[in-house]
Amino acid sequence: MILQTRIETALETAIRAGQRGPSPRRLASALDYAVTPGGARIRPTILLSVALACGDDRPALADAAAAALELIHCASLVHDDLPCFDDADQRRGKPSVHRAYSEPLAVLTGDSLIVMAFEVLARQAGTDPGRAGQLVLTLAERTGMPGGICAGQGWESEETVDLGAYHRAKTGALFVAATRMGAIAAGQDPDPWEELGARIGEAFQVADDLQDVLSDAATLGKPAGQDRAHNRPNAVAAYGVQGAIRHLQDILAGAIASIPQCPGEAMLARMVRAQADRLTPVAPVPLGH
Ligand code: IPE
Ligand code: IPE
Ligand code: MG
Ligand code: MG
Repeated sequence: MILQTRIETALETAIRAGQRGPSPRRLASALDYAVTPGGARIRPTILLSVALACGDDRPALADAAAAALELIHCASLVHDDLPCFDDADQRRGKPSVHRAYSEPLAVLTGDSLIVMAFEVLARQAGTDPGRAGQLVLTLAERTGMPGGICAGQGWESEETVDLGAYHRAKTGALFVAATRMGAIAAGQDPDPWEELGARIGEAFQVADDLQDVLSDAATLGKPAGQDRAHNRPNAVAAYGVQGAIRHLQDILAGAIASIPQCPGEAMLARMVRAQADRLTPVAPVPLGH
């Protein structure tokens, strides 16, 4: 089965389970709205690619891990768009969840998706209790405090912020979760996979910072110019546009070099190269940057 089908099927199964019975209809509908149609699904794609490179001997576990990771990512976007964070009206080319449903329902949608992610993993305990436990722990570490997405968003409430620490927690954490969880799902040691996740995550956030400056809302499907508007630390402010592009290319070269030796090494290098092409801006650089 192609990766995209595995990811969408696993997500749909999770969402349907969360909508069963006499549940509140508007919240049930908001769960769907927040998760589908998706964005690039880059995190679960990386997770399944690593699992395949490691032999993918428990595909049901890998599918659950991919769904759990993407559910956390979708939850983080719903909360990130709220007025108390980035106050964004658009996400993935449509009104953000609080715009379409209401603020209380957006808070609850994010909360429900986070809980659902861990429920999806816990349900796999019967498949392989050891691996399921490791997956729960890995996802928890990369979601909460002290180094997960919560920490990343928390840095925005500090007076001084280190750009590297902010990016590692806000964005890098879920990419490290992607590579580590892919290895765990396939029964391999996750440690050799840490660097690949960290490097792709760093590259991804630099690319996102560049797009925020170089692109527009219609292309992005979300507001542009947000980093400057909210005075967020970002790679373009730190290095300039050209410097950020050079930095991005360096990180991606390092990412490919860091792929551990495994049967699927060449396939993974192709996947990272494809993501690199997608992430590297080709837009003409505006004067003044
Ligand atoms: C957006 O992530 C949030 C960041 C960490 C920059 P994505 O660009 O992966 O969002 P979707 O899932 O494709 O919409
Ligand atoms: C979002 O970061 C990262 C999360 C943890 C949700 P941004 O605020 O920079 O991402 P976008 O630009 O809204 O997607
Ligand atoms: Mg934000
Ligand atoms: Mg935002």
